[in-house]
Amino acid sequence: MSKIKTSFFCQSCGSQHTKWQGQCNACKQWNTLIEEIVEKADKKDWKTDTKTPRTSTPIKVNEILTTVESRMDTRDGELNRVLGGGIVPGALMLLGGEPGIGKSTLLLQIAMLVNCKVLYVSGEESQKQIKLRADRMNSASEECFVLSETRTQNIFAQIEKLAPELIIIDSVQTLHTDYIDSSPGSVSQIKECTAEFIRFAKETHVPVFLVGHITKDGQIAGPKILEHMVDVVLQFEGDRNHMYRILRTQKNRFGATSEIGIYEMQSKGLRPVVNPSELLISEKDQNLSGHAIAATIEGVRPLMIEVQALVSSAVYGTPQRTSTGFNTKRLNMLLAVLEKRAGFALGAKDVFINITGGISIEDPAIDLAVISAILSSHHDIEVSQNYCFAAEVGLSGEIRPIPKAEQRIQEASKLGFDTIIISKFTKISDTNQTIKIVRLGKIEELITYLFG
Ligand code: TYD
Ligand code: MG
Repeated sequence: MSKIKTSFFCQSCGSQHTKWQGQCNACKQWNTLIEEIVEKADKKDWKTDTKTPRTSTPIKVNEILTTVESRMDTRDGELNRVLGGGIVPGALMLLGGEPGIGKSTLLLQIAMLVNCKVLYVSGEESQKQIKLRADRMNSASEECFVLSETRTQNIFAQIEKLAPELIIIDSVQTLHTDYIDSSPGSVSQIKECTAEFIRFAKETHVPVFLVGHITKDGQIAGPKILEHMVDVVLQFEGDRNHMYRILRTQKNRFGATSEIGIYEMQSKGLRPVVNPSELLISEKDQNLSGHAIAATIEGVRPLMIEVQALVSSAVYGTPQRTSTGFNTKRLNMLLAVLEKRAGFALGAKDVFINITGGISIEDPAIDLAVISAILSSHHDIEVSQNYCFAAEVGLSGEIRPIPKAEQRIQEASKLGFDTIIISKFTKISDTNQTIKIVRLGKIEELITYLFG
């Protein structure tokens, strides 16, 4: 009898080790190695009958024949834009997001909308449950097939019979293949099942959507290598108690990653939000002092955040400076700049800063929004809700340029702001946005601009 072969896999980066150890050699994380059974059965492809090895020879890059890639229209404007103009044939797309955020709803909706034969494979819900969900969404499609299955070999057998033009797998963590012995959801299973679908997609040019669960710190569960393997990584996010959802690209081999799609969760499914200004404006019915919106970049993703400030007279001798989500040292520096360069006596004031939404921002581009919020609270004059800010502030009160200005301007414009205030030294290549761009050089100019 052959001995069962096991290996140790890092749950963080997916690297393989022959023995257990406390720290992963590859990513240096502690306590991430887990033993998994690996059956080194001779590796088979998604089509088990392929005996002939596929070979590939080098070709000069300018001699490779290309046909103009016709992208598949998903009939959902937001998704099309996020993908860079529709689905590319043979693309493997991974959709991540928290439980209950609407991943299954979004993909089922696409399956019903798109004008081709779709196979929706669910390892989490029965065919009846999916039907109930489809009924709720009130859409009917003649060409959407539903399968409840988790074994990849069975899925491929059904695919060969049905020949769908788009495949949706919900979710990759429920899949298992016969060639690996560990349980579904383990690193080696996820890696191998994804690899099978990649081989399938590349050979047949049928695009595949995979749903991926995420861990509590927001990463797609399973090895990081999963994100390297696929062509597109989409993230579906938002507050579950809120109705708005944002679809972002983290990686896209066929387009830019700066686009976002906005949806509203309704009782009849997800509605694309065509005019995003309704999102921010409907949430507040009046202007309040001490608020300013900053256009920041988190990783590669543009994000609009709200900075709130409260300036009040200090009760005790030493004024309090408290900030949530913003570096306190940086706050002290900005206050010193306001005191010395702009003449505000903030030395005897308590200053509180809060970044709403519970996020923490390192990006220095929010300096200008922080200063505007402080001044707004100090003067008790509101900053218009239609303004947003993206600039760093230097020690002599100069307003400094920040990187990726185009992306921030694009996001601000998309979210419905009508004015963005940036440094006059910011270099912008294309400005075919509808948003008004105000360029300022010094804090004094900001004060005149905002408060007259
Ligand atoms: P779901 O797509 O199951 O989330 P995920 O697959 O990301 O875990 O959707 C979850 C929530 O969406 C669920 O709590 C109910 C809500 N929902 C609606 O509000 N309207 C609808 O039409 C549907 C189908 C779901
Ligand atoms: Mg789901």
